[in-house]
Amino acid sequence: MKRFQESTILIVGGGYVGLTAAGCFAEIGHNVHLVEKDLDRLSMLARGEIPIYEPGLEEIYTRALANGRIQLHQKIEEGLYGAEVALLCVGTPPSPSGDPNLTIIAAAASEVARGAVKATYVVVKSTVPPGTCEALELICHDSARENVKVAVLSNPEFLREGRSVYDFMNPDRVVVGGEGEGLLKVASLYPDEMELLTLDRRGAELIKYASNAFLAVKVSFANEVAALCETLGTEAQSVLRGVGMDSRIGGDFLNPSIGWGGSCLPKDTSGMVAISRSLGLNSLVVEGAIEANDTARSRIVERLDRVTGGLRGTKVALLGLSFKAGTDDTRDSPAIYLAQLLKAKGAEVIAYDPMARLHASQLDAISTRAMTIDQATDGADVVVVGVGWSEFGEISPTKLRERMAGAIVFDGVGILDLDSYAKAGFVAMGIGRGHQDRFKPIIWRPLSWTIEETPVIRGEVA
Ligand SMILES: NC(=O)c1ccc[n+]([C@@H]2O[C@H](COP(=O)([O-])OP(=O)(O)OC[C@H]3O[C@@H](n4cnc5c(N)ncnc54)[C@H](O)[C@@H]3O)[C@@H](O)[C@H]2O)c1
Repeated sequence: MKRFQESTILIVGGGYVGLTAAGCFAEIGHNVHLVEKDLDRLSMLARGEIPIYEPGLEEIYTRALANGRIQLHQKIEEGLYGAEVALLCVGTPPSPSGDPNLTIIAAAASEVARGAVKATYVVVKSTVPPGTCEALELICHDSARENVKVAVLSNPEFLREGRSVYDFMNPDRVVVGGEGEGLLKVASLYPDEMELLTLDRRGAELIKYASNAFLAVKVSFANEVAALCETLGTEAQSVLRGVGMDSRIGGDFLNPSIGWGGSCLPKDTSGMVAISRSLGLNSLVVEGAIEANDTARSRIVERLDRVTGGLRGTKVALLGLSFKAGTDDTRDSPAIYLAQLLKAKGAEVIAYDPMARLHASQLDAISTRAMTIDQATDGADVVVVGVGWSEFGEISPTKLRERMAGAIVFDGVGILDLDSYAKAGFVAMGIGRGHQDRFKPIIWRPLSWTIEETPVIRGEVA
């Protein structure tokens, strides 16, 4: 039996998730009413402009706007008319305790319920802790008119920024938590080819946290192996490739890097720890991944401090500020975190990024924002690549060497050909690339081993 059915959908929130969902659902064939309460954002959207950088989104969004498949509203009640399903795509930012702040989503759910004039399914796409759909349903019951039934379901979103349209259209799975007709209705929004997993609401909510926590663990683990590689003088990229070739492990998210960050992994890992604690449980693996992530970044700055003979007074060109390549999002960006650590050591940080949107609270993290790579690197002592934008991989090492005052390059994302930098006279460093870092392993072993005599391996930086 065919699952897909054309529907009228209300989407609340025109951010990365809501805007992508709006464009893609319209492309799939639904009629979308998009509500965005931020007036500046809404007027940009009305002009056909996309307020975020997301490859492919502008094309499908403007097409849907032109053919009337997307209509824009500032208030939920205006967009609710005719919609059978209301998808909540609003932010759930972390509170200081690590728990997600649910006030925005609670307000949005209540507003939908207040405005509903017929039975409505409220679908939570935002990332929320297990039990939230049930709590929101109680809020909706309190807010809804008499005889208007509002049920709340979970439909977590797994898209990656920078690839959001592709991921939405080609998901590994569509997860729907709920039961009865509501579950069938939400499932019918997605084309039949998309693999569907249905379960109870708490389980669906937890899948999102557990998935993000696992990804964070994988990156932290990769960086822990990379630190071992540096100390042993071997290549982390090859070692991790060998590990990831095991089909039980898989190679994705297993690269040495300056660590994980962004709008989701930090808040969802701390969310998972907070959820576990509130239930009297521990999340030791996830807590370890969080600590390892901080340690990995501090190690980078310590290495740079050592190799420069002290960062105080050095001019560091930081290439990249967004939380990863392909997005303008700088929320919890590892590159910005690195900039803060470098500045705390007394370095002057001149940063360049082709897309990143810095918020007022992040401006202090850097000394100057350059408009080009050349501007950032002119007279620099050290170049640090913090984001894998492809243009950084195209820099000519010889030309860069001529422009800089010093000759240290640190590749935090594995995008540079460090051998060609070394040939151009650089001290070329990368994560998990010990031998480039003038590392000398020292191996002691007895002349003739006995079973009891284990070789002792140590290393030191020359
Ligand atoms: N960004 C991602 O990559 C991603 C991926 C999967 C899941 N998520 C989750 O999805 C949720 C949304 O994330 P995002 O990155 O899209 O957030 P965002 O901050 O980019 O967008 C949220 C939007 O909702 C709007 N909004 C808030 N309250 C509103 C209301 N009552 N009416 C209308 N508009 C309202 C805001 O103005 C904002 O534009 C979060 O829970 C996040 O954890 C995000």
